[in-house]
Amino acid sequence: MKKRKATHIPTMKNIDSHSHVRGESIYVDDIPERQGTLHAAVLMASIAHGKIVSINYTKAQKKEGVVRIITSKDIPGENQIGGIIPDEPLFAINDIHFQGQPIALVLATTESIAREALHDINISYKERPAIVDPIEAFKKGHLHIPSRTFKLGNTTNAWKKCTHIIEGKADTDGQEHLYLETQGAYAYPVENGHITITSSTQGPTALQRTAAKVLDIPMHKIEVDVRRLGGGFGGKEDQATAWGVMAALGATVCKCPVKLILHRMDDMKMTGKRNPYRSTYKIGLDKQLNILAYEADFYQNAGAAADLSPAILERTLFHCNNAYYIPHVTARAHSCITNIPPNTAFRGFGGPQGMFVIEAAIAKAARQLGVKSRDIQKQNLLENGHVFPYGQKVEECQAKPTWSALEKKQSLKKIQNNIDQYNATEKHYKKGLALMPICFGISFTNTPMNHARALVHIYQDGSIGISTAAVEMGQGVNTKMVQVAAKTLSVDAARIKIESTNTTRVANTSPSAASSTADLNGKAVEMACQALRTRLLNVAAKSLAAKPATVTLQEEVVYTNNKKTKIHWEDLVQLAFLARVSLTENAHYATPKIHFDKSKEKGHPFAYHVYGTAAFVVTVDCIRGTYEFDAVDVVHDFGTSMNRIIDLGQMEGGLVQGIGWMTMEELLYNKDGRLLSNALSTYKIPDIYSVPKEINVTFLNTDGNDMAIFRSKAVGEPPLLYGIGAYFALLDAIQQFNPAFEPEIYHAPLTPEKVLMGLYG
Ligand code: MTE
Ligand code: HPA
Ligand code: MOS
Repeated sequence: MKKRKATHIPTMKNIDSHSHVRGESIYVDDIPERQGTLHAAVLMASIAHGKIVSINYTKAQKKEGVVRIITSKDIPGENQIGGIIPDEPLFAINDIHFQGQPIALVLATTESIAREALHDINISYKERPAIVDPIEAFKKGHLHIPSRTFKLGNTTNAWKKCTHIIEGKADTDGQEHLYLETQGAYAYPVENGHITITSSTQGPTALQRTAAKVLDIPMHKIEVDVRRLGGGFGGKEDQATAWGVMAALGATVCKCPVKLILHRMDDMKMTGKRNPYRSTYKIGLDKQLNILAYEADFYQNAGAAADLSPAILERTLFHCNNAYYIPHVTARAHSCITNIPPNTAFRGFGGPQGMFVIEAAIAKAARQLGVKSRDIQKQNLLENGHVFPYGQKVEECQAKPTWSALEKKQSLKKIQNNIDQYNATEKHYKKGLALMPICFGISFTNTPMNHARALVHIYQDGSIGISTAAVEMGQGVNTKMVQVAAKTLSVDAARIKIESTNTTRVANTSPSAASSTADLNGKAVEMACQALRTRLLNVAAKSLAAKPATVTLQEEVVYTNNKKTKIHWEDLVQLAFLARVSLTENAHYATPKIHFDKSKEKGHPFAYHVYGTAAFVVTVDCIRGTYEFDAVDVVHDFGTSMNRIIDLGQMEGGLVQGIGWMTMEELLYNKDGRLLSNALSTYKIPDIYSVPKEINVTFLNTDGNDMAIFRSKAVGEPPLLYGIGAYFALLDAIQQFNPAFEPEIYHAPLTPEKVLMGLYG
């Protein structure tokens, strides 16, 4: 491919940083309350499976300050919020399928009255046994969708050619999103039955569509507005909908504003999380350590309703071979119905769960063959010309380049020597090392979702307002949108304002997800700004009596034949306005080239792939089972990063979130489907003390890809995948102390408790 020179795009600091630091940024709970606002609290089921025998609302209804209790009977339209499959009632009627399932909504004059009233509602249940284990559900045939299989080559024949065949099991637990801002919405009636909902959602259109269905009104009567999110991480891609719909329903029934903000513990109990998975695998290698064949069965714990789990399941299959070429693959995935809250999107969207299994298979094979995992990993990295199990060709592959850049930069030999020396002399501390290459496909796996729109207004004073489908959730997408517009229009970034994400201004949007928000919306902004630029240059040409081809715009000034003119940006805008030329543009972008045929499970689903390699060094305290990550070194393929500060933030945040999932976040449900880790006292997430002491990120500067905005590759989810390396570095350290230790099931997270059992097991 032709080497392209990267055009310089100045990095910009996050446009939200000023108001964030001053505490002035507005979240749903900060919106000034309108007169007559009612506060809502959700009545939820206290059992995981069974029937409601009776509910008595009388006492709660009589409580002073309680205005109304809303149940399924108050729903004008359908009592249904399921996104992919209509299997999820907004309010349970008779059957309960998970603990925390919403049953009713109490509306009161204050939040504390609404919450207190919940205690005055008496419910009796007839409880049934709960199923929380996906394999148990699978054996009973409880599946959300028929199982799916990705196939490449022919594994049945390939086993015969393998010198080594290893089988095993690998499980990953769920993960609580723990966005700083809990789920919430504020809805108020406008005139003529119209409703505005302000919500903390990644998917404004999903909320609008679902609210319309529940309220039985057309979508145009509902306006969803999103300023920003205090984090989403996938937890608000689909699961912000219920709360927005409830607030809208309350506002419709009571004809007044309704605010619903979940308390942390209720949010933890009621909302779904990363899907836990249990998996079995079989891997076959030849004498030279080439992986010839791989078979896996993924049992996804989807929870009580499908939510996004069918799409997540698909991504598990897409990433089952991680960054390795395996000529013969049979991967089967099963979306199992259990009695826990419906699980949902979480950074990586099923990819991490699939990738953990191939890494476990490689680690176990390496041990049995007496080699290092990294010998097998390196030997099997993807290269251009290879093919993914889903039929897409491997192109612009950076698996080997990132691996060798890391090897060179960090001199793995030296690191390993240092570790060996340390381990030989230290009795009570052991160090471990693991490498983690990654490969992640960019695009919604569901092709029809890959499009976005932008609406750009240039105002008469030369200032600019931009609306897109992008939701800012901390990932910095609004800053990137400013950069795109500033560069395309050759104006100062200070002229540009990014408006809230609003369904009346930009309609029919996909959620902000799949790491594709900046690409999809950025391309739309670029197209709209390009059209405006051309239009304005034509105005300039006319006014200068010059040929349009000779007129350019550079840093807010019009040039002809590269000579400065007197026409400044503001003059140009005035000229256009007086000439009655439209200063508004609406653009639509749809990712070209991508397609996927589910009936064959083959196609070209991704615009491009993101690659990288990380090395983890960990020190384990072999008396206590505690550990510290000395350093994580990453060489990551950012393409030509358009904003290094933001991209580095995504890298560090994602990496640490991945380490948390793999090492400390222990999400526990008991056999009755009750969430045991329902508060921060029982659920540990990474803090400043548990992050690696050093995170060194190297930007592998590549050409990037045309389908990435400004050739700056998507960066939201891929860094989380590196976290998987933390598990294997820990395992290495444990085995340095206790060489006999071999987990029967590779099961993440590897908490200090499990490390201790490994050290002495
Ligand atoms: N970063 C922050 N700070 N907060 C978030 O909620 N979500 C992640 C990632 N990075 C998230 C984040 C997830 S799950 C996705 S899909 C992407 O950001 C979404 O944004 P993008 O498409 O603009 O990368
Ligand atoms: N990623 C994230 N979210 C999604 C996807 C995907 O591939 N498909 C549907 N929602
Ligand atoms: Mo991200 S899991 O695609 O919201």
